[in-house]
Amino acid sequence: MVGRLLSAAIYSFPKPTDQKNALPAPPHTGPVARIAASTPTFYRDVLPILEQHCQSCHRAGAIGPMPLVTYGQTRPWARMIQEAVRLKKMPPWFADPRYGHFLNDPSLTAQQIETLSSWTDAPAGDPHDAPAPRQWTDGWNIPQPDLVVRMPKPVEIPAHGDIEYTFEIVPTCFSRDMWVQMSEIRPSSRQSVHHAVVYIRPPDSRWLRHAPAGVPFTASSLTGEQDRRGAHATDSDMLLVYAPGSSPDHWPNGMAKLVPGGSDLVFQMHYTTNGHLGSDQTSTWNRLDLAVDQRQFCHSARR
Ligand code: HEC
Repeated sequence: MVGRLLSAAIYSFPKPTDQKNALPAPPHTGPVARIAASTPTFYRDVLPILEQHCQSCHRAGAIGPMPLVTYGQTRPWARMIQEAVRLKKMPPWFADPRYGHFLNDPSLTAQQIETLSSWTDAPAGDPHDAPAPRQWTDGWNIPQPDLVVRMPKPVEIPAHGDIEYTFEIVPTCFSRDMWVQMSEIRPSSRQSVHHAVVYIRPPDSRWLRHAPAGVPFTASSLTGEQDRRGAHATDSDMLLVYAPGSSPDHWPNGMAKLVPGGSDLVFQMHYTTNGHLGSDQTSTWNRLDLAVDQRQFCHSARR
């Protein structure tokens, strides 16, 4: 009887008009109210955390091994989620907290860890409590881009052996300075890419100046002695770096990365072999900061 009273009280509080025939209303600060508030449900408590901290990797087409988007998808993982968040395996983050605080640290708060790890009975709760579903652009973790740059030629990857760093230079043909506020790199063949860097080569840079544009090459394939020796030493700024599971760069409001007019983007790819022939054509997807006052920044940044 007590059990029935408790469960009825948790999930259906009597409406004022039903007062006469209703069960006694629970006191708001009593044990019943505490049970109701502290039992996490999927829609109210778990899903908001998954949207903010997990779905960038755990959704269809992303790097995580299973989607954590719907109740049905998430429920079988409740125990594994508990373990993964308690041990701080998820979300992955390898910086040592003893050495400073990072603005883009995706780690969960103690409260969020507590919520996810006490959801092992996996109640669904009320779908009306769900946050608005997060909108993702297919295959990307930043919103609709203003500027997509893809390596013009795919790179053929052998089945075995070590592969020298592979470069591909892509002229942007920007006639004026651009400010990039969000940037993401996506390999087309994730399983072959150990890491990638996209450099911004300004028009006055001598780096790889005699190397061909628009086709893949390695340092040792270059005929120019200076280019061959200098391939791995550059003073060009990086647009961004990719490694498996890395997040896009997103600079705070008022900050953006300068791509001077006339620059080239230089993709530097480190491929690894895995026993199968492969092919990759990596792209970078960017959102420009159109609100930046161009004149103000040009002075300070370009000297
Ligand atoms: C940056 C990408 C990324 C994010 C963000 C991320 N995961 Fe994962 N997750 C992965 C990958 C990749 C694997 C597979 C790891 C492996 O096989 O070793 C994984 C595996 C898991 C597993 C299986 C664990 C196991 O031991 O096999 C669970 C459970 C999990 N993630 C839960 C979560 C939860 C919960 C969050 C958010 C709090 C989260 N992940 C955020 C990439 C991510």
